[in-house]
Amino acid sequence: MTKFNIKSVAIIGAGPAGIASLYEFLHTNKDGTSTVGKEVAENPLFDKIVVFEQKSQAGGIWTPDIGTKSLRVPPQSMFDTEQYNNPDVIHKSEPKPEGVLAATVENPILVKVNPKDDTHLDWQETGVYPDLFTNIPSRFVRFSYQPNEEKYQDPSRTIYPFLSHHELTSRFSSFVEKEQLEKYIRFKTRIEEVYKDENNKWVITANHDKETVHEWYAEEFDAVVVANGHYTVPFIPHIPGLAEYSRKNPEVVIHAKAYKNVDEFNGKSVLNVGGSISTENLIQYIYPVARRLSVSRRGDHKVFPFINEAIVSEGIVGKPPIERIDPETGIVYFTDGSLEGDFDKILFTTGYHYHYPFLKKLIEVVAPSNASRVSGLYWDIFAIEDPTLAAVGVPVTGLKFTSIEAEAAAVAGIWSNSKDLPSKEEQRQWEQKYVASRPHNIDYHYYAPDEVQEKYIDKVIDQFASPSRYNPLIEDGKHIDDIFLGVANLEKLFYKLKNNELSIKDTLYRD
Ligand SMILES: Cc1cc2nc3c(=O)[nH]c(=O)nc-3n(C[C@H](O)[C@H](O)[C@H](O)COP(=O)(O)OP(=O)(O)OC[C@H]3O[C@@H](n4cnc5c(N)ncnc54)[C@H](O)[C@@H]3O)c2cc1C
Ligand SMILES: NC(=O)c1ccc[n+]([C@@H]2O[C@H](COP(=O)([O-])OP(=O)(O)OC[C@H]3O[C@@H](n4cnc5c(N)ncnc54)[C@H](OP(=O)(O)O)[C@@H]3O)[C@@H](O)[C@H]2O)c1
Repeated sequence: MTKFNIKSVAIIGAGPAGIASLYEFLHTNKDGTSTVGKEVAENPLFDKIVVFEQKSQAGGIWTPDIGTKSLRVPPQSMFDTEQYNNPDVIHKSEPKPEGVLAATVENPILVKVNPKDDTHLDWQETGVYPDLFTNIPSRFVRFSYQPNEEKYQDPSRTIYPFLSHHELTSRFSSFVEKEQLEKYIRFKTRIEEVYKDENNKWVITANHDKETVHEWYAEEFDAVVVANGHYTVPFIPHIPGLAEYSRKNPEVVIHAKAYKNVDEFNGKSVLNVGGSISTENLIQYIYPVARRLSVSRRGDHKVFPFINEAIVSEGIVGKPPIERIDPETGIVYFTDGSLEGDFDKILFTTGYHYHYPFLKKLIEVVAPSNASRVSGLYWDIFAIEDPTLAAVGVPVTGLKFTSIEAEAAAVAGIWSNSKDLPSKEEQRQWEQKYVASRPHNIDYHYYAPDEVQEKYIDKVIDQFASPSRYNPLIEDGKHIDDIFLGVANLEKLFYKLKNNELSIKDTLYRD
């Protein structure tokens, strides 16, 4: 069995996954005992932990800068590549300056940049919009060691049992502040490359954005946690004619990531492409103000089945996927032979990519799209070929915060030698068997609310976490049915907003 001797860790991303990993490590002793929920470890597992975050705040998509979006998604320069559906094209690593491996955080290499250059994008702006409330009850958009505040349990709240984005953002920021986690985070610093060198050390290349100048340096670590999220890089399917049409009509095409508020849809004729949660969520705001709304969708949505009816409910024209767009006339041709034109807005709610541009080996995204699978990971966490690299935040679950917490506990458990991983061969066989028994797409990573505890969280904790680490569902597991109550309320809220029985401002709660 591999015995780990890890002293330094780099965490890529300070969203919920990166912060949960940091918190977990700070609450794990060298002997593996966990102090989660109490004081930090007296004899901490690692001597050095650095979190690298490309934004200026912690929280991932739940950062307070919501509402200050400036991006068009994607910029025309990216549309013009005709490969805007390829994440390697729209989300590249910046070329490394020469000599960067000898540069340090104290003595970086300085590279002048043009801040207006949109040929390179890190997509750091959040996809959350000011009107958004969560679709998961307040109890489950927190880690078990955060308080479950009484004030959110009030059924008379219009958005009960959910939180407004403002409430969740503020819950998260208060936690980071209270636990004094900011001192471990290097903000405005993007990881551009991660590789293992001949001395068996991970070398990360960091790019510190100082507006007109970028400071580049390299640093060595014993282990790396990839916690970069998978709702950052927008997916837009390739559609013949779309790039040229967008060049001629620059204000028409947007992705949900760039949605700010409903004003730009007022009185407009809208085509919404997509059939999942962003589609349902944005339609409830857009339908009441739009002149006309059509929805082009592909398959059925499985997570919240009410969506399948809701997004083509009364007054909305349902269409199949788009075949092509005539760039001259803007007429949209659909796969069933029908056509529609005269759209003022074409809104893509077609999801996001998993993407690891800084990592060329170990983790592979199979068939990149909104529905791709990540391969090379054991239980979606440990890189099979080198378990000193771990990912936190890959599974798709209604209990995203809880599964993140369990994954972070698993990493601490294995890296502190509290538990052992099976041999690489056994892990490879596990992945092969698992691939054979699961869909070959994002559903490979999906656990429904009524199975996530038994099939994922309990298994991950039992196999990998320290025996002294409690299961994050020990209390909250009794309330998983709240998710279903939540879905019923989500449906009611959808129809109330859509039918103008509830105004957006009634759903906006500030902490
Ligand atoms: C519109 C929207 C609404 C959502 N609503 C809900 C909800 O209601 N409930 C729920 O549970 N989940 C929801 N989610 C899912 C959401 O992703 C999770 O809540 C959570 O944010 C996942 O945390 P994460 O840390 O994995 O990813 P993120 O929150 O995306 O954080 C990843 C962080 O990594 C940073 N990063 C990325 N690449 C690099 C790099 N190379 N170098 C340095 N830093 C990097 C990013 O800047 C970001 O801060 C929603 C997602 C979206 C897009
Ligand atoms: N809190 C909230 O209320 C809220 C709001 C928005 C988003 N979110 C979260 O954000 C995450 C992402 O959700 P999302 O809806 O943006 O992404 P998503 O779940 O990946 O959905 C993308 C949708 O686009 C469809 N699509 C892809 N290509 C298409 C094409 N060529 N033509 C027509 N449809 C196409 C997909 O269909 P297929 O299924 O066939 O691939 C799918 O329905 C989820 O975790 C969600 O919970 C939460």
